[in-house]
Amino acid sequence: MTCNFYETDRALSEYLLFHYGSPDELLPEGFPREMVLHFPVRCVTECVDMKRLPPQARALDLGCAVGRATFELARWCSPVIGIDFSERFVTIAGHLKKNGSFLFGCVEEGDLTHPCQAVVPSDIDRERVQFERGDAMSLRRDLGKFDVVLMANLIDRLSDPRKCLQQLPGLLNPGGQLVITSPYTWMTEYTPKENWLGGFERDGNRVKTINMLKEILSPNFDFCFQKNLSFLIREHARKFQLGISEASVWIRK
Ligand SMILES: C[S@@+](CC[C@H](N)C(=O)[O-])C[C@H]1O[C@@H](n2cnc3c(N)ncnc32)[C@H](O)[C@@H]1O
Repeated sequence: MTCNFYETDRALSEYLLFHYGSPDELLPEGFPREMVLHFPVRCVTECVDMKRLPPQARALDLGCAVGRATFELARWCSPVIGIDFSERFVTIAGHLKKNGSFLFGCVEEGDLTHPCQAVVPSDIDRERVQFERGDAMSLRRDLGKFDVVLMANLIDRLSDPRKCLQQLPGLLNPGGQLVITSPYTWMTEYTPKENWLGGFERDGNRVKTINMLKEILSPNFDFCFQKNLSFLIREHARKFQLGISEASVWIRK
């Protein structure tokens, strides 16, 4: 179903820093910052059109990890439901909702760590957010309908992304906004090749994920726009993953 990586100490520390780390905690001095920081926040602020939201808009963050985008959505939406398959991530996201902060060890090198604190911005109403464990490919049927659904860097971590996408028409209200971001890192460890949405040749044609998304979603969604969103995940003081996700935004017909 999903790789165990997202239950590990390493993943927890990397994602707490990724979602909540300050520039000084994340980056070496002098490294250019603005383009790569606060990815979960930018998924919301650069992709969701707040002017289109109805009063009391409901939002869903699928594959929420430790919840930074879920909290960000709560500035405009209530309730916001964050769902992740990792028990560990959902437990810590719940702790952040309850307490507003969480202390963790941030890796310097090898086993050496230093203490860091993930803090939810104090101007966000944490009561608007709820976290639960769930499988994005088989969601509980009584979730209701949403005005925003965010799927940030999720589809290429699912064993059957098409199954997840097929549930979306039933999850969004007409006019609702769907945001999908992904670096399209298709790997057989997560997704058997026959379920990849792109990154292969078929009948001599190069299949790109964005085109497959258009094919799958177009009966129920209008394509709105796409843009690049870069991100940086710190593994340790001297090793980083730099990625450029493609964000695509869709409106439920
Ligand atoms: C690459 S991380 C992205 C996390 C977060 N959205 C972000 O942008 O930082 C992928 C997330 O998807 C979660 N995930 C993997 N398979 C899942 C599934 N079947 N249902 C729900 N979440 C899943 C993982 O636990 C992990 O938190």
